[in-house]
Amino acid sequence: MADFKKNDGITEAQIAVHWKEEDYYYPKTHFIAQANMTDEKILEKFGEKNFPNCFKEYADLLDWYEYWHTTLDTNNPPFFKWFVGGKLNACYNCLDRHLDKYKNKAALHYIPEPEDEPIQHITYQELYRRVNEFAALLKDFCGLKAGDTVTLHMPMVPELPIVMLACARLGVIHSQVFSGFSGKACADRIVDAKSKVLITMDSYYRNGKLLDHKKKADIACNMAKEMGQEVEKVLIWQRYPGKYSSETPLVEGRDFIVNDVLKDYYHREIEPEILPSEGTLFLMYTSGTTGKPKGAQHSIGGYLSYVTGTSKYILDIKPEDVYWCMADIGWITGHSYIVYGPLALGASSVIFEGVPTYPDAARPWRIAEELGVNIFHTSPTAIRALRRLGPDEPKKFNYHFKLMVTVGEPIEPEVWKWYYHVVGKEEAVIIDTWWQTETGGFLCTTVPAIHAMKPGSAGPGAPGIYPAILDDNGNQLEASSNKAGNIVIRNPWPGRMLTIWGDDERFVNQYYRRFNRDPESKDWRDWPYFAGDAAVEAPDGYFRILGRIDDVINVAGHRLGTKELESAVLLVEEVGEAAVVPVADKIKGKVPHVFVSLKPGFSPSKELEEKITQTLVKEIGPIAKPGKVWIVPDMPKTRSGKIMRRVLAAIANKQDVGDITTLANPDIVKQIQSMA
Ligand code: WTA
Repeated sequence: MADFKKNDGITEAQIAVHWKEEDYYYPKTHFIAQANMTDEKILEKFGEKNFPNCFKEYADLLDWYEYWHTTLDTNNPPFFKWFVGGKLNACYNCLDRHLDKYKNKAALHYIPEPEDEPIQHITYQELYRRVNEFAALLKDFCGLKAGDTVTLHMPMVPELPIVMLACARLGVIHSQVFSGFSGKACADRIVDAKSKVLITMDSYYRNGKLLDHKKKADIACNMAKEMGQEVEKVLIWQRYPGKYSSETPLVEGRDFIVNDVLKDYYHREIEPEILPSEGTLFLMYTSGTTGKPKGAQHSIGGYLSYVTGTSKYILDIKPEDVYWCMADIGWITGHSYIVYGPLALGASSVIFEGVPTYPDAARPWRIAEELGVNIFHTSPTAIRALRRLGPDEPKKFNYHFKLMVTVGEPIEPEVWKWYYHVVGKEEAVIIDTWWQTETGGFLCTTVPAIHAMKPGSAGPGAPGIYPAILDDNGNQLEASSNKAGNIVIRNPWPGRMLTIWGDDERFVNQYYRRFNRDPESKDWRDWPYFAGDAAVEAPDGYFRILGRIDDVINVAGHRLGTKELESAVLLVEEVGEAAVVPVADKIKGKVPHVFVSLKPGFSPSKELEEKITQTLVKEIGPIAKPGKVWIVPDMPKTRSGKIMRRVLAAIANKQDVGDITTLANPDIVKQIQSMA
């Protein structure tokens, strides 16, 4: 097995957030009176002595064809298996079982970006029908069966959950790629997942423009073919059914308009496949420390139990709620907390096209009033943008949130307070939920009716989750030490991914090697999960997350690997060397800055900076747009020739560069600083 590359440890420069401890805020009695978990006795069931059986509480929220015989199988750590022997179907749990009671209730509300287009309200019955028809198409037209993979590159439209649920019904593994990602990024994910079918859409709206999305499918298929993976069929949904809205022609024999083919499958019903708990539901690619994105492979039984349980007890969702999570379904938050968790509970889940600040910063509040949204879920980046562009807008609208969520990045106490006082009108409870693509669901959060809120801190471990802070040598730091360290989860939990798709070794090395106590041990206690974030534990047991300690940049709550960005920059002919570092940003939390040195014979220019920017947008997508491109005469390097990213990050963040006497070329630092 490859050696685990020890990271350099946590440095001050990596610790982005320095706010002081804050006072507590308490949930209001009207919230507590109605909450799903008010009784400390239920919470006590999740106490350490009840591990792992405590998670039965979550799994029992689902319907199983066959009940499991083993709650947690630890025979092959860290490949833990949950609810072994159990058989179920995720689509059945999100649809069929609700029909008796809720068939006429909205499962999805869809808000298109153009405000003159009608909102769609899709009932459970309609969703059930449409999922069945699409499942029939996948099965008979595409020949897909349980265990096959299919790549989706779809925007925020109701057809996306329809496709996901149709796959889940058949046991087909879906791998949705965020629609903002480029054709190239989609190709990489098609190749890794070995998909023969791509499902996409002709176009979608963003910021007032109808974007041609189909053209990315052509790029993706061509590049995938060059890399040895042939896409045999491309299924294209239409933004306007019956009308093809794209400039990109169809490829004969490969491309099919869904609405044309679907006619043959109207009125069809497909029995849900009876699938093992530890089977695979989907892949979700995320950035890591190397250039290659990794496919987090999530299970059916463990994952669905975990997102359903946390949706019930942490998001406090009930069937009568109107729940709106503003994330994109192309990220894990959307999979877990727009689609699977809320629908498994029979909730009404809102999906919107576009961005929160277009046509204006009142859009979310207008939607909340119109639909009667009472649970609201978003990211610090969106909150910061809405606060800057329309600080008083929420007051003008008549909506009432009982609970609000923040996720994806640390939230500054000042921003938290605006969220609390202005958006939440001092009525709503706030939960700050810390977790990751790999973890399936929440890891640290308060239980909303039981714990006090503390601005800027995620909270204690979620029920059944036992986090700890370890120093770089693996020693636990006590809660009162006030020292930052590596946050780990001491125990397995059902929402965690099964592995990295096709790369068990990387899975073990990335998440378990770092603090494993004994590679031979079969005891889960010897296998703490290494999250890759720095955090501090306060004496009250609340965790304050400080940010990534690895080569990952968290831009507006989206993860980008510095290595991925650097390899894209190196495609520019003039570039000799490239280094990408995170720089603090008032709205997005962090943005990438790109440092390049040029090959001999080339000189810096504005055009070249623009070319580098455009290459990143083309290779990865608009989220990779750098805050600044620095064309420098040389990179600061160690004597062994390693680029000192730490020094570049300090310069770009206007911080002290620290000790640079060990550099091979210390003089370069002043030169670069003078370019700021
Ligand atoms: C960061 C998103 C502070 C963290 C669900 C983590 C957070 C990475 C929070 C995962 C939070 C997520 N407070 N930081 N509440 N939530 N993060 O995989 O650095 O897109 O490792 O999953 O986002 O990002 P991912």
